[in-house]
Amino acid sequence: MSKKKKKKKNIYLYLDILLVLILLIGIIYIITNNNKESNNENNKNNINNNETEPEPILDSNKEKLEKLGNINKELDFFKMEYLDRYISYKDKHPELDNETIIVYVNIGLDNSFYTNVEDSPNKHTNTVLSNKYYFLGDDYVPKDLVTINNNYSSGDKKMTKDAAKAFEEMARDAKKAGYNVRAVSTYRSYSYQQNLYNNYAKSDGKEKADTYSARPGYSEHQTGLAVDVDNTKVSYTKFGTTKEFGWMKDNCYKYGFILRYTKETEFITGYMNEPWHYRYVGKDIAKYIYEHPMTYEEYYVRFLENK
Ligand code: DAL
Ligand code: ZN
Repeated sequence: MSKKKKKKKNIYLYLDILLVLILLIGIIYIITNNNKESNNENNKNNINNNETEPEPILDSNKEKLEKLGNINKELDFFKMEYLDRYISYKDKHPELDNETIIVYVNIGLDNSFYTNVEDSPNKHTNTVLSNKYYFLGDDYVPKDLVTINNNYSSGDKKMTKDAAKAFEEMARDAKKAGYNVRAVSTYRSYSYQQNLYNNYAKSDGKEKADTYSARPGYSEHQTGLAVDVDNTKVSYTKFGTTKEFGWMKDNCYKYGFILRYTKETEFITGYMNEPWHYRYVGKDIAKYIYEHPMTYEEYYVRFLENK
């Protein structure tokens, strides 16, 4: 083969290799781009999926919400997870408006007393909630118990520091105005309440005892924030008939106390009328409840729960 021919053959060989290389690069480019596109497509689908995923739940909720009529989901205390409970409570109480239904279900009124019990919220604060749905525990003892001034109590009686101070002020002002307000029962330990409740249950039966005595671990007296009062002349059970009761009804809020158990609210609290039982909650809350009468349970779910 001549030199010229050999050179030509080499050039063709180089050109072939170059062509193959270009082809290979082209194929790689196409494959990579295809992958990118399908990834993008997948991502788009994922985004769409994420956006559309909750829709079926929302749809079913929508139907349920419609059953309730014009419910105001903007209410701070509306709980979507309680929707089924709201609906069945409304079925049983069609006379109630939706806001009341939400409040009552949030309190737990769709469950019987002493069922579905939870740990008391806000322990060791003036806003602790203790009732037939919230358990303080057998070891709950307030941290700052002090003995209140003996001038305003029958024997040594303890309350938390804030509550004791407020009670002394209230009793002193009552005295100045011509009224005797005396503490006859304040802080009660778990075991004290246990004895008390067991004795009542023995003499009156459990069902009756439950209407006026808390089971151990559920009494507001165990919080150190509750006080039973008399007027030093007649039994505390007759406090509702005294002029002191009139004074307390109108004035206790100024010192941070609320009247806790009334006849009208028995279905919420589970306790009969107790004109002698007052609960310290602090001045702001007491004033609000005085101006907008409601139980502490209602106040709690409206303004304190989940805050
Ligand atoms: N008498 C009230 C309800 C109590 O036992 O705490
Ligand atoms: Zn009491």
